[in-house]
Amino acid sequence: MSPTMDLLTPTRLAWAAGIVLLTTILRFWQKLHFHRSLVKGLPGPPHSYLFGSLISMGKVVAQQPGSAAPQTYPSFIKEYYNLGDWFVFDPWPFGPVTLVTLSPEMAHEFTVKQSMPKHPVVDDFMQNFGGAGNMVSSEGAQWKKWRSAFNPGFSAAYLMTLVPSIVDNCDVFSSIMLARAKTNELFRMESATTNLTVDIIGKVVLDHDLKSQLHPNELVDSFISQTRWTPIGVQFNPIELIDIRMPIMLAWNNFKMNRYIGRLLDERFSTRNARHEATGGKRQKYVIDLALESYLKEASGSAADKKDVAHMDPAFRTAAISNIKTFLFAGHDTTSSTICYAYYYLSQNPAMLARIRAEHDAVFGPDPAQASAQLKENAHLLNKLEYTTAVIKESLRLQPPASTVRVGQEDFYLHDPETGAPIPTANFMLWAVDVGLHRNPAHWNDPHTFDPERFLQKSSDGKPEPANPAYVPFSKGPRNCIGQELAMIESRIILALTMRLFDFSPAYDEIRVLNGDGYGRGESAAEAAMRQFGDQAWQVQKGTAKPRGGMPCRLRVRE
Ligand code: HEM
Repeated sequence: MSPTMDLLTPTRLAWAAGIVLLTTILRFWQKLHFHRSLVKGLPGPPHSYLFGSLISMGKVVAQQPGSAAPQTYPSFIKEYYNLGDWFVFDPWPFGPVTLVTLSPEMAHEFTVKQSMPKHPVVDDFMQNFGGAGNMVSSEGAQWKKWRSAFNPGFSAAYLMTLVPSIVDNCDVFSSIMLARAKTNELFRMESATTNLTVDIIGKVVLDHDLKSQLHPNELVDSFISQTRWTPIGVQFNPIELIDIRMPIMLAWNNFKMNRYIGRLLDERFSTRNARHEATGGKRQKYVIDLALESYLKEASGSAADKKDVAHMDPAFRTAAISNIKTFLFAGHDTTSSTICYAYYYLSQNPAMLARIRAEHDAVFGPDPAQASAQLKENAHLLNKLEYTTAVIKESLRLQPPASTVRVGQEDFYLHDPETGAPIPTANFMLWAVDVGLHRNPAHWNDPHTFDPERFLQKSSDGKPEPANPAYVPFSKGPRNCIGQELAMIESRIILALTMRLFDFSPAYDEIRVLNGDGYGRGESAAEAAMRQFGDQAWQVQKGTAKPRGGMPCRLRVRE
């Protein structure tokens, strides 16, 4: 036997294993103690040393549909344990210790007054949709550089010039919907609106027709698959962590997205001078061009002229692909759900449905077939769609697709909105929960009722009422949504061009017929019978928060 083998006696090996085990247990206990101490003395659901808030949160979650999005739970936790507008919960080791707020004053403190950095969970999530250097999760100079580079591509004036191409994509959507209406097909509206909004954003970002409404597209299919495989809310559902196919699928989808966008970026780079001449030097504001422009500005320092820059720096190329992916993701995933919810709520409220149609008749005339041409001719007609805008805002109030999570810091204190008492934030994830803010009875009358009228209130001098501070679907402060104007423009166009074509009926009673069609996990009969906020179209987490089951529906052609 060799001298090394002599040393490895069974007794010594057992000792070594024992020491490793003991150290692991001690480290775990140290971390557990640290996390459990953080929430001591702060308001929150009942807490145990061993399980943190998991058991008390579990009791609330058990009363909700199993598929409901995590952002819907805080309102119920607050109600169940009779908590105020902020509280803490401790799901460690399944998620970070979190300070939840449903108070606009507190949300303002960490998003506007001082814009705290995004929590690392945002970066983890965005690795699947953006990648290194993406604008949603990056910070400091890197974020600032990209935000300033892209801002011109999202100004209201510039976006109005894109209305004709948005209308073209909507016309394709309308004809697909009419065909489905004629056959009374049962389908998931969210898949259809996703293809529409992704085609729109493909044009805005890449100046490229993805045409995913008409045939399969590799980039779009990879995005959709990525939303299906991305884990989110594991603090509520640890089972999501143990599917071994997940990392493989995420990496494979990312590879395909990078390859597709990389090809387009390389082509755009190599043809830029020809395009510059063809457009008479006019500045192009597609996201892809704005990214290249910012690079060329830097790189031309060493070349005689921007047009002489011969190669694209690999680091820039990677960051540009990350950001383009980010825009493609953030730019479709949220708007597609908003459209579904607008159809849904209007279908439940015949008077509101009649009113929105009357507005479209008044603005475009009684023949819906004329509306596309009119909008292409005069995009500013959109500004007349007051009620339509209120419907979209109200859909976003009840069903906001996203919210912001920031990281607390040693020297940063929040303040109790009632007492003004300082609240430490170090080691906490700070979560301004849009669903909770938007349904907080302290800030909204009849908070769970769909009522667009609340966005049309005028004060005695005829001016619109000041915006409700508890309304934050696009977040606020410097990290607010860069695409909010685009989202509102395209949502108005989609509703203006489709509301009068068909009657929409949700088909949740038939949702189980669609089980197994590849959209996601099917529903049990017990879950299908549930409600959340009294509603059957609760939000599930698929990328951002989306309507349950992709909003199954049937359409009927209007005569
Ligand atoms: C109804 C539609 C939309 C909603 C509700 C929405 C909501 C939001 C929210 C809540 C944030 C803050 C996220 C955070 O703090 O982590 C955000 C950021 C962002 N959104 Fe949107 N969004 C929508 C549409 C769009 C569109 C159409 C685009 C792109 C064209 C877009 C691009 C972005 C980007 C790039 C950011 C990060 C901004 C930054 O950090 O500087 N969004 N959005």
